[in-house]
Amino acid sequence: MIDRATIDKIIDASDITEVIGDFVSLKKRGVNYLACCPFHNEKTPSFSVSAAKGIYKCFGCGKAGNAVSFVMEHEHLTYVEALKYLGKKYGIEIKEKELTAEEIQAGTKRESLMIVSAYAQDYFSKTLWEHPDGKNIALSYFRERGFSDKTIKKFQLGYCLDSRSAFSNTAIKDGYKKEYLVGVGLSIEREEDLFDRFYGRVLFPIHSISGRVIAFGARTLKQDKNIAKYLNSPESEIYIKSNVLYGIYFAKQAIVRSQKCYLVEGYTDVISMHQAGVENVVASSGTSLTTEQIRLIKRFAPNVTVLYDSDAAGIKASLRGIDMLLEEGLNVKVALFPEGDDPDSFARKHSASELEAFLADAEEDFISFKTKLLAKEAQNDPIQRANLISDVVRSISMIPDTITRTVYVKECSRLMEMEEELLSGEVAKLRKKRLYEGTKDPRAYPTPLSPEDGGEPLTTTPLPSFVSNIYSEASEKELLHFILKYGDRPLFLDAENNKLSVAEYIIAELRNDELELQNLQYRKIFDEYAQVLQLPAEDRSKHFINHPDQGIMDVAINVLSDNYQISIKKYIESEEPEDTKLRRVVPYTIAAYKSNITKQASVALSEQLNEAQKRNDSEQMSLLVERLRTLQAIRNTFAKDLCRLTT
Ligand code: CTP
Ligand code: MN
Repeated sequence: MIDRATIDKIIDASDITEVIGDFVSLKKRGVNYLACCPFHNEKTPSFSVSAAKGIYKCFGCGKAGNAVSFVMEHEHLTYVEALKYLGKKYGIEIKEKELTAEEIQAGTKRESLMIVSAYAQDYFSKTLWEHPDGKNIALSYFRERGFSDKTIKKFQLGYCLDSRSAFSNTAIKDGYKKEYLVGVGLSIEREEDLFDRFYGRVLFPIHSISGRVIAFGARTLKQDKNIAKYLNSPESEIYIKSNVLYGIYFAKQAIVRSQKCYLVEGYTDVISMHQAGVENVVASSGTSLTTEQIRLIKRFAPNVTVLYDSDAAGIKASLRGIDMLLEEGLNVKVALFPEGDDPDSFARKHSASELEAFLADAEEDFISFKTKLLAKEAQNDPIQRANLISDVVRSISMIPDTITRTVYVKECSRLMEMEEELLSGEVAKLRKKRLYEGTKDPRAYPTPLSPEDGGEPLTTTPLPSFVSNIYSEASEKELLHFILKYGDRPLFLDAENNKLSVAEYIIAELRNDELELQNLQYRKIFDEYAQVLQLPAEDRSKHFINHPDQGIMDVAINVLSDNYQISIKKYIESEEPEDTKLRRVVPYTIAAYKSNITKQASVALSEQLNEAQKRNDSEQMSLLVERLRTLQAIRNTFAKDLCRLTT
């Protein structure tokens, strides 16, 4: 037990921005700090921390609390464990007696597994530094590898003696239960006897994000080809492989500082790079990258550079995994080490400044890297070339940001000697297909506008893929107004009485045409809206009115104020019931928005046609004429829709 005075001391000493800052990258916004919430997945930050009040609140998922509850929630610790963690962080001594075997038994299983792991780490390190075999065999091995004593201590490396049960026997004698030793995979039970899983191996403890040992990687020191070079702890309650990145505890501060994370293959790469002064590095340890690992990186920085050794047969196999990084919105680069080197051997051979210079120079954008790599192979083979194109299109379509996508389309059309238009058309098609999957389809809600209307579906005509986003301030603002003010109102019903709300309708309409609001403040609200959907409608608008981002707050207050007038006032002032009004006015606003976009697109196409005429480029001319014709047809249908909706 911890006495009240000590608890108060710990709470007083804890600076909430420091405590949370160890896990999440915080950005100052006015008096508060803002971040992407560590408790749910989000693209726009809605996790706010008030240093003055000592509290945090996520406006997306609703999680809130103080420094202690943050540590409890984030690290899955009990109240007392969280206090101990903070006490350690702030150098406040907590007087407590050593845990007895009974207390270990009484603890939760998770905590017991952690305690056993910590004990094992300590035992293996002591063996390394103090036991004659440890010193002669293992310590000298690490030193020969070029690890300094400081590095060996920092990463808490260790050694498990080459005798089948030395560790297990000592652990049992020290009061640790068989159940937990086996549970965490350190011991293997065979007919009542316990054996050491890692006997005769050097050990790399794997740490949780807060620095607790949760598993081990173990390398044999034998040359025998029949023995696995590396063994890892099996999965357990405290070690879920797909959620863990080796080195994250040692790297997180540097990742936040540099806003970049290097991704390498294994333990030795992480350690050697650290020793060479590059600390923002983690390893996925053998397995291919998982979404959880990527989100872990994203909590700290938006940039990732994947480091490869040049002869890695795995490069091609790993390309798909890298697409996942793009999909999560990270900026991805790759760097290839010179022939015969991996990050570990390179870092050992070169000085810190040489390593840094090399990394800066060698890193290359992922998509161009991939395009070049595959283009070389596909040179004279049309089928391979087609595969290459669809592969690259897939990668580009994963990128959430419109502008970044456009840049890539340009670059890749150059690298593949392929028409930009064709490429962007393919990317748009793929995105549409994917975006469409998650959203409700308004076409499934054919409730008539009015009974006389005969059940005509109220979706607007889709835009052709060559039309991209065009900024249309007034329409964007109106859409936002409807979302914030009427988002929850049922707009249409399908035959089974399923409801499509105003917000769902607008979101689906935009997504189906892959349109994104161009005003960045509006877009932020739009994106964040999906995250607050579980709140009742008034609370959602309240969320934006009280938003920590001053800009968003201003926009929300503005579009919700009584002074804000939408352009088709006539409806708002008419005597119709509000829901009937919305059924006209919301589709009207969408149609007007899209009509506006097609109008501007026509102007741009006409200009291009003029240019093409001057150049006498007949191929281009016929393409443009064709497009103008398509657009004109679509504009006619918009005109009809708009007319129909206002009469
Ligand atoms: N690795 C692994 N499992 C293997 C082989 C390698 O997990 N079977 C990981 C390890 O994390 C290792 C990294 O890949 O740190 C690099 O592999 P490798 O160079 O083969 O390991 P080293 O220990 O550096 O061996 P060597 O001294 O032969 O280079
Ligand atoms: Mn190696």
